[in-house]
Amino acid sequence: MHSSLVALAASLQVAACALLPYTPTQNATLEPKASRWPSGLHLAVDYYPSQWPEWMWESDVARMRDSNISFARVNEFDWTVLEPSEGEYNFTVLDKTIELFAKYGLKAIIGTPTATPPNWLTEKYNIDFVDRTNTTLGFGSRRHYSFSSFDYREQSQKITRKLAERYGNSSTVAGWQLDNEFGCHDTVRSYDQDAITRFRSWLKNKYTTIEEMNDAQGRVFWSSQYVSFDVVQPPFLEVYTTNEAHTLDWARFSSDMVIEFAKEQTAILRELAPSHAVMHNFMMFFTDFDHHKFTRDVGIDVSTWDEYPLAGVEAVSLSDDEVSEYLRTGVPDIQAFHHALYRGVSGAAYGENHGPFGVMEMEPGVLNWNHYRVSPLEGMVRLWTHETFAASGDLVNYFRWRQVPYAQEQTLSALFLSDNTEDQGYVESQAFADEDLPALRAQNTTGAGEKQADVAVVFDYTSNWVWTIEPYSGAWSPKDASYADVALKYVDLVYTFYSSLRRLGLSIDVISPDQSLDGYKMVIVPSLPIIPTTFNQALADFSGPVVFGPHTGSKTPDFAYSPGLNPSAGTVRDRLPMRVTRVETPPTYAGSGISYAGSNYNISAWEEWIECSRQNATSTATVEYTSRHRPGKPAACSENNTHYLAFNPPADFLVSYIGDVAAEAGVEDLVGRVPDKENDLGATLRLARRGNLLWAINYGWEAQSPPTVDGDLIIGEEGDVPAAGVVVWKLN
Ligand code: GAL
Repeated sequence: MHSSLVALAASLQVAACALLPYTPTQNATLEPKASRWPSGLHLAVDYYPSQWPEWMWESDVARMRDSNISFARVNEFDWTVLEPSEGEYNFTVLDKTIELFAKYGLKAIIGTPTATPPNWLTEKYNIDFVDRTNTTLGFGSRRHYSFSSFDYREQSQKITRKLAERYGNSSTVAGWQLDNEFGCHDTVRSYDQDAITRFRSWLKNKYTTIEEMNDAQGRVFWSSQYVSFDVVQPPFLEVYTTNEAHTLDWARFSSDMVIEFAKEQTAILRELAPSHAVMHNFMMFFTDFDHHKFTRDVGIDVSTWDEYPLAGVEAVSLSDDEVSEYLRTGVPDIQAFHHALYRGVSGAAYGENHGPFGVMEMEPGVLNWNHYRVSPLEGMVRLWTHETFAASGDLVNYFRWRQVPYAQEQTLSALFLSDNTEDQGYVESQAFADEDLPALRAQNTTGAGEKQADVAVVFDYTSNWVWTIEPYSGAWSPKDASYADVALKYVDLVYTFYSSLRRLGLSIDVISPDQSLDGYKMVIVPSLPIIPTTFNQALADFSGPVVFGPHTGSKTPDFAYSPGLNPSAGTVRDRLPMRVTRVETPPTYAGSGISYAGSNYNISAWEEWIECSRQNATSTATVEYTSRHRPGKPAACSENNTHYLAFNPPADFLVSYIGDVAAEAGVEDLVGRVPDKENDLGATLRLARRGNLLWAINYGWEAQSPPTVDGDLIIGEEGDVPAAGVVVWKLN
């Protein structure tokens, strides 16, 4: 279409749709059921028959069965195979695949193929993704669509319905994966015209009048009041920093679009495939949509995630020594963090803190997308598999069956080489399948439903958005409409807290601020700038110790300073008389530091000025700054079992401080010891417990001596845990 016609068509559509009220899809039919998924220890594989000659299919599937593989995920990129032209369907490949699975006793997880819209569709319909530079990213790779596209929403439901009509009653199908990795390749926030239209409607639904929006967003500043909802733009293509409240609205809106898109597919699957599980494969450290809200609203039965440990090395800030140490093993706590996160994300669907979860893509070798591409240390594929089950996971699905010798992922390892001979990942997966799996299955372990943790770490997507929108550091990039090179990221902060708890050998859940605090012995909140009402209430009912990190209670829901300064009015302020009066984000060479219990620690990137008093009440300064510009000033306040750390805490400090708080609260580590920095497990040895089984897992290159365990060995040998090795005990 000529570009002026495209523009005209778009403007007509805006005019028509601007009048539509914002109507969230109803929840009623989406309710999840854990019984749709067979809990247990399952191995699986990602399989793409359309990419191989048909004569290979049967021997592949027979070999899967012989390899102890019970499930295979298929189809998530095959839309053009299924619908080569609009309305012409060809289910031959999927039919034959499912017949073979039935013959060999496997079950399918079918992906809805919406991550890869076909060419006929992109030529005819208006679905393209537009990035924040206003560049349209078109057909050819994947995820080239906007979640807001009116056309694409229709097409997505149409293909989902076709598939569900055909396979919704099949007993060879166990579940459905919605799309693939929602938001991958930075595709949650699309700035296309349909997104803008829907955003206007979303804002109108939230604020009712434009005056109210202008007011809430503080638009008197820089004369940025809008005259009407019909002209509101997303926060992009502006000369300088965008309005923070508006940017937060845009993040929330974009997150809601992913959720709406997923709900539309799920509603169809619930109608036509009522006994099958609905699943999604979430990603590592991906925060562009609210995953807790997603599973809660969409009603996901099983939350899975894609585990690429060697890419994780680039995901958090590490020293050069750490990078070198973990290049081939993955960072020791990143995998466990995500298991805990997705156990909780899954729980959110059920109104619980735990739900069924697993790994939908497990790295078996060299990746094709991290900066430097190296091979995992021998033993790691087996270790990562163990770690999933140790965290109460129900599924380890290796990505993919065989390395494909052509196209975009030809350099990515699989279980088999492209010539169909075994690769190292297969050898390790089979070491697990042949030796370890029977030993574990024999123990009848419990699944993810069990409430296993003593400690809750609160992870919050909105907090991440707030930290990203105003990081108090970095350089504004108009092109990216955000700050680059920031001093401290929320995920780094969370990771440091989580890793310290793991060094203390504690059992840990990762939950949202909306999940229950009942039963936990200690709660850790790395940062919560906007304290949600639900959390405020849960906190009021919680009597155990709570440790808050910096920047907590600092913002109103409209992204302004808390009246009376932080912490904001509510439970934290009631319990802990203190005030934050200034924020600095010093570099490492600024000479900042803290002192606690006779030890000094260097700090950088976040340092608040605090007073351990408010009005006539006081709290205790438990940590002091040694920073050369303000030595002796309080760096943490504590009162009524509530602690506030006003700086970016180093892990060694947290092991000591949280160890003391946990010990005082009577929390024990996973082998029954008092948490203490003397019992620090160090950099690479980790403990995990599922039911009455205890794992010691060694991410290091050297053997490690485990703590004394009161139990009988079921996997591994007495003595040290070998490098990249695993030992499992049945506890007495
Ligand atoms: C994942 C994706 C897969 C494949 C894989 C390669 O992010 O879901 O389709 O591309 O990465 O490592």
